[in-house]
Amino acid sequence: MPPPPREDAPERYPIVITGLVNQFGEQRVHDNLELKVRRGEILGVVGGSGTGKSVLMRTIIGLQQPAEGNVEVFGRSITQAEPDEQIGVRDRWGVLFQGGALFSTLTVGENVQVPLKQFYPEIDKQLLAEIARYKVLLSGLPEEAVNKFPAELSGGMKKRAGLARALALDPELLFLDEPTAGLDPIGAARFDQLTRELQETLGLTVFLITHDLDTLYAICDRVAVLADKKVIAVGTIPELLETEHPWIQEYFNGPRGRAAADQKGGKGPSRSRSQFKAMDKRAKRRA
Ligand SMILES: Nc1ncnc2c1ncn2[C@@H]1O[C@H](COP(=O)(O)OP(=O)(O)O)[C@@H](O)[C@H]1O
Ligand SMILES: [Mg+2]
Repeated sequence: MPPPPREDAPERYPIVITGLVNQFGEQRVHDNLELKVRRGEILGVVGGSGTGKSVLMRTIIGLQQPAEGNVEVFGRSITQAEPDEQIGVRDRWGVLFQGGALFSTLTVGENVQVPLKQFYPEIDKQLLAEIARYKVLLSGLPEEAVNKFPAELSGGMKKRAGLARALALDPELLFLDEPTAGLDPIGAARFDQLTRELQETLGLTVFLITHDLDTLYAICDRVAVLADKKVIAVGTIPELLETEHPWIQEYFNGPRGRAAADQKGGKGPSRSRSQFKAMDKRAKRRA
């Protein structure tokens, strides 16, 4: 009989973070942070402003060298590799940075081509254009968007263009840093739906930083909470509600948290509970 897979095997946990310390001068942002992301889940990452959510994402993708600790992605250590060292995993993720960060002098199509050119410099022009067009459509943008410049797009369309670029390399892992910030509620809900659809059809694992309680309820399988320089809890929202931590209680049980839960599950508490159950089920399915 083959041995059972290691508890933290990369097939189960594409991201494993241990003992992470990030520090800027005197300011310690992360202190002995631990986190494991399950394969195929949408993990919501929440925390107050400045708690280090974006720094955590940058550390996972190797843009930020931590002071201590280890980050493994698909079983390869990112922290022990040089930023430009070939370790065979950097083309297996896609990133939508906070604010979108499209190149303003490039069209949407050209923006999507950037990572393709970086990893596959030999691809011919026509194929590049074809792949870019396909990713733009996949992200729910109309065909004409391919030749538009970022300044010609609405906020929601810019986010989709950023998503198209993040999907350029057919990633297994998708990082989204506050993708619905600045969108109106309808635009945000549509973007959430798109994220869920892409996650399901493409089999993605999604690391989703958000402030948006509606997003957490609507599409996240589990939620990781950053506070006190650590991930203080990770679980489904019902599981998180069982912890006593004041930030968690205030966040989910404050007026906005309740409104999001009610909106999602209908009016009465019983409907909210059924929503919780659906979330629990989703998380168990992926466990
Ligand atoms: N390159 C940097 N140099 C110095 N300080 C930084 C740098 N990047 C982030 N920080 C600081 O680290 C903290 C966490 O930042 P960030 O991860 O952006 O927070 P958020 O949770 O809002 O995404 C902030 O106090 C920020 O000022
Ligand atoms: Mg941030």
